[in-house]
Amino acid sequence: MKLIGLMYLLSFCNYLSAATINGTDEISMLIRRIIWTDWNQFDIELNPDSILDTPEMVRKAGYPVESHVVMTEDGYFLTLHRIPGGNDSLPVLLQHGGLCSSADWVVLGKGKAFAYLLADQGYDVWLGNFRGNTYSKAHIFLSPLNSTFWNFSFHEMGIYDLPAMITFITNMRSQPLHTYIGHSMGTTSFFIMASERSKIAQMVQMMVGLAPAVLVNHLQSPLQYLFPFKSEIKRVMQLFFHDEFFQSDFVRFLLKKICLQNISLEEICSNFMFMIWGDDREQFNNTLLPVILNHFPTSVSAKTLLHYVQIAESDKFRKFDYGRVKNLLIYNSMNPPYYDLSNITVPIALSYADNDWFISIEDVKRWYHLLPNVVDMYEVPWSKFNHMDFIWGKDASKLVYDRILKIMRSENSKRVHQWNNIVSNQN
Ligand SMILES: *[C@@H]1O[C@H](CO)[C@@H](O)[C@H](O)[C@H]1NC(C)=O
Ligand SMILES: *[C@@H]1O[C@H](CO)[C@@H](O)[C@H](O)[C@H]1NC(C)=O
Ligand SMILES: *[C@@H]1O[C@H](CO)[C@@H](O)[C@H](O)[C@H]1NC(C)=O
Ligand SMILES: *[C@@H]1O[C@H](CO)[C@@H](O)[C@H](O)[C@H]1NC(C)=O
Ligand SMILES: *[C@@H]1O[C@H](CO)[C@@H](O)[C@H](O)[C@H]1NC(C)=O
Ligand SMILES: *[C@@H]1O[C@H](CO)[C@@H](O)[C@H](O)[C@H]1NC(C)=O
Ligand SMILES: *[C@@H]1O[C@H](CO)[C@@H](O)[C@H](O)[C@H]1NC(C)=O
Repeated sequence: MKLIGLMYLLSFCNYLSAATINGTDEISMLIRRIIWTDWNQFDIELNPDSILDTPEMVRKAGYPVESHVVMTEDGYFLTLHRIPGGNDSLPVLLQHGGLCSSADWVVLGKGKAFAYLLADQGYDVWLGNFRGNTYSKAHIFLSPLNSTFWNFSFHEMGIYDLPAMITFITNMRSQPLHTYIGHSMGTTSFFIMASERSKIAQMVQMMVGLAPAVLVNHLQSPLQYLFPFKSEIKRVMQLFFHDEFFQSDFVRFLLKKICLQNISLEEICSNFMFMIWGDDREQFNNTLLPVILNHFPTSVSAKTLLHYVQIAESDKFRKFDYGRVKNLLIYNSMNPPYYDLSNITVPIALSYADNDWFISIEDVKRWYHLLPNVVDMYEVPWSKFNHMDFIWGKDASKLVYDRILKIMRSENSKRVHQWNNIVSNQN
C-alpha cells in the first residue's frame, strides 16, 4: 500500500520535473519559488538556545572559540570551528556525518558533548565542516545554485576537504594531528583520504571511527526501500534542487513548524526519526529537539547519497560509478576502481552499535578484517544504541567518549615511551 503511494508521489514529482524542463508549467515554477524562499527570515523561535550557531553555542557554554576558513584545492571554502587549547596542547579534529555539521559535537552541552570533554582534557579541539553544509556552502566561483557546485560525494571530501583542513591545522600548530575523530560519513571520507592521499594521512597519528560507514550491505533502515527509485529521486533533485539533496533551510523550517508545536507532535517527530535510524527513546533527550532541528538536517549533494546507494547495492567500497561508458573515460576501466586499503597504516579505533540501522555489526566486522592496523574494536554496551546516539545520546559520554579519551591517553603515552626509548638509545 505504502509503496504504491510512494510510486504515485514519485511519478507526480516526475511529471512536475518533466513539465519544468518545458518551462511552461506554472505550478512547477510556483513550487520552485516556494522552495527557494529565504526560510531563515521566518525563523522566529521560542527557545533562544535553538537559534544559536556553533560558535555562539560554544561561547555560551563558557569556552573560547575561533572560526577559520580554508580553501580546498578545487576551490571550496570550508569553515573550521576551534576551541583552542594551550600552547602545548595536542590538536584533535572532529568530523561530522552526513546531513550534519560541527554543531553535532556540542549539542549535548557542557559536561556531556564530546568537543567539551576533549577541551576539558586540555586538547586543542577543531570541528570541521564538509563542503555543502551550512558553514561550508561557498566556492571561489561556483554558486550553490549551480549544479556543478553539487558535483561531489564523500570521495571529494576525502581527497580535498580533509587534506585542506588537516594541512591547515598541522601547519598552524607545527605538529601532527594527534587524533582524527569521525562519525559516519566522517569515517568514510577519512578512509578515502588515507587510501588516496597517504602523505596527508601520515600527518595523523590516530583515527577514531564512530559508526564507521563503509560497507553498508546489511542496512536495516527502511530508506533501503527507496533504492529502486534512485534515478527518479535523482531527477527530482536535479530539477528542483540543483542536485543538492534537499534545500535544507526549507526542510528545517518545515520540520520545526511541524515538530515543535506541542509535546505530542515532538513525539511523532522523534518516532519518525527512530524509524529511519533505529529506535532508542531512552537515549534521546526530547528537550534537545529544538536545538537539533536548528542544525539538522543540513545539505549534502544528491551524488553523495547516490554513492552510498551504489556501495550498498554492490557491496564494494569503490569510486563513484558513472556507468560503463563514462567509467571507461574517467577511470580507464568499465567498473569503478576499488579504494586501496593496504595504504591505511594509521592506528584505528572503531566503535559501533547493535541497533544502528545504517551500519550493522556484521558490516563493521567485515571492514575490520580488511583494515591493516585496528587497535580497538568496541561494541557499545547498550543494546538499543543507534546511529545518532553517538552524537546525541544522553549517555554517549559514559558509553563511548570515556573509553576513547582513555585510548587517546594510552596511545599518547605509548608514543612518548617510544620516543624516550629512541632518545635514550641514542645517548
Ligand atoms: C512540452 O511542451 C510541448 C508543447 O506544449 C509538448 O508537445 C510536449 O509534450 C511537452 N513536453 C513535456 C516533456 O512535457
Ligand atoms: C604561548 O605562545 C605565545 C606565542 O608563542 C606566547 O606569547 C605565550 O606567552 C605562550 N603562552 C604560554 C602560557 O606559554
Ligand atoms: C555553472 O558553472 C559552470 C562552470 O563555471 C558554468 O559553465 C555554467 O554555465 C554554470 N551554470 C549556470 C546555470 O550558471
Ligand atoms: C562531475 O565530475 C565528474 C568527475 O570529476 C566529471 O566527469 C563530470 O563531467 C562532472 N559533471 C558535471 C555535471 O559537472
Ligand atoms: C600507496 O602507498 C605507496 C607507498 O607509499 C604509494 O606509492 C602509492 O601511490 C599509494 N597508493 C595510493 C593509491 O595513494
Ligand atoms: C497538539 O497539536 C495538535 C495539532 O495542532 C492538536 O490536535 C493537539 O490537541 C495538540 N495537543 C496538545 C497536548 O496540545
Ligand atoms: C536534556 O537536555 C537538557 C537541555 O540541554 C538538559 O538540561 C538535561 O539535563 C538533559 N537531560 C538528560 C537526561 O541528559
